[in-house]
Amino acid sequence: MTADAGSANTVDTRQIEADIYDRLSRVIDPELGRSVTDLGMIAAIHATPIADNANAYDVTVQVELTVEGCPLSETITNQINGAVASYPGANLTPHIEVTSMSRDKLADLVADLKAERKQNPFNKPGVKTRIFAIASGKGGVGKSSVTANLAATFAALGYDTAAIDADIYGFSLPKLFGVHTQPTNLNGMLMPVTAWGVKLISIGMFAGADRAILWRGPRLQRSLEQFLADVWWGQPDVLLLDLAPGTGDMAISVAQALPNAELVVITTPQPSASDVAVRSGLVALQVPMKVRGVVENMSWYEHKGEKLHIFGEGGGQRVSEQLTAALGYDVPLMAQLPLDPALREAGEGGRPAVLDADGSLRTDGFGAQFRALAERLMA
Ligand SMILES: Nc1ncnc2c1ncn2[C@@H]1O[C@H](COP(=O)(O)OP(=O)(O)O)[C@@H](O)[C@H]1O
Ligand SMILES: [Mg+2]
Repeated sequence: MTADAGSANTVDTRQIEADIYDRLSRVIDPELGRSVTDLGMIAAIHATPIADNANAYDVTVQVELTVEGCPLSETITNQINGAVASYPGANLTPHIEVTSMSRDKLADLVADLKAERKQNPFNKPGVKTRIFAIASGKGGVGKSSVTANLAATFAALGYDTAAIDADIYGFSLPKLFGVHTQPTNLNGMLMPVTAWGVKLISIGMFAGADRAILWRGPRLQRSLEQFLADVWWGQPDVLLLDLAPGTGDMAISVAQALPNAELVVITTPQPSASDVAVRSGLVALQVPMKVRGVVENMSWYEHKGEKLHIFGEGGGQRVSEQLTAALGYDVPLMAQLPLDPALREAGEGGRPAVLDADGSLRTDGFGAQFRALAERLMA
């Protein structure tokens, strides 16, 4: 107790310290999604009366960040500053002292977070995350483009959205989202990189030795497990997986690791593509995974107000009918997306085409189609 009885300072300094601690419990670390007090980042709080200044105090907060100089440290310290300065009971002058956690403390924190998360966070009962695995029989049909634009749509609609680039040899999400940074590594726990509102992880974000580690072993299976267990996902509303093309192994790995995952099959309109797309959906006969629906991409090209069916017609409908018949439940054709050069150009520029430059969802037909697809998937 440092306040003098009888001074002009009417609030007990211990009370101020306790109140500030309580206020800091509402400052959330943006990466870990937990409060700075929960995470043990607040090492000390000291309030001292300012002489000759009624009801005014200097308040020093010692903050221990998980990683010093992390890009989000300023966000955190600004919020702490605000929580002190806006204290209603007295006039407080904040002094924020920033250091980083000791190795041991950080190791304990990471161990706690991992234990709490019990490895793969998505296969616990009661988990609210909807998981959509985007599959195609063959490459080049627009699986990654659809995944990226759908993820951006979910995020723009306000869903907490994550995406895993599970196509480890043909990864493309970093480029489609314009990501050039590496995930922060907290003692072996990786923070996804957020771009256009989506939490992302891709093998393309790792270089050299890190990439080699992810590529070791039975690769597809391992990398997916690693992305699920070693990345801090929090509890997103939606998780999208951009699967490697093919008709078997990948979907089986997903079904094992993520029993709640629902498969979305992407096809183009021509028969050669739709036949192999059907096979990619038939994996659901071998593993307990629901096929949620079919998306036909590159369905037409609009030229002078006329829809030209460059790749033929009917592929999406065929896949829907054949999977419905084989699986014994409705596998609807959920969307038909046009061939649009702007989609490729925006993707190459690092922004999902469904977003405007300010990150809001486009309000034209293309934006409306993705919004409708997202809403239908969540229904
Ligand atoms: N609807 C579309 N309109 C125009 N270009 C598209 C469309 N969908 C995909 N593309 C382009 O086709 C190529 C293959 O798409 P991609 O999403 O990488 O396919 P996949 O992941 O199935 O291999 C990319 O250059 C992409 O920009
Ligand atoms: Mg791809």
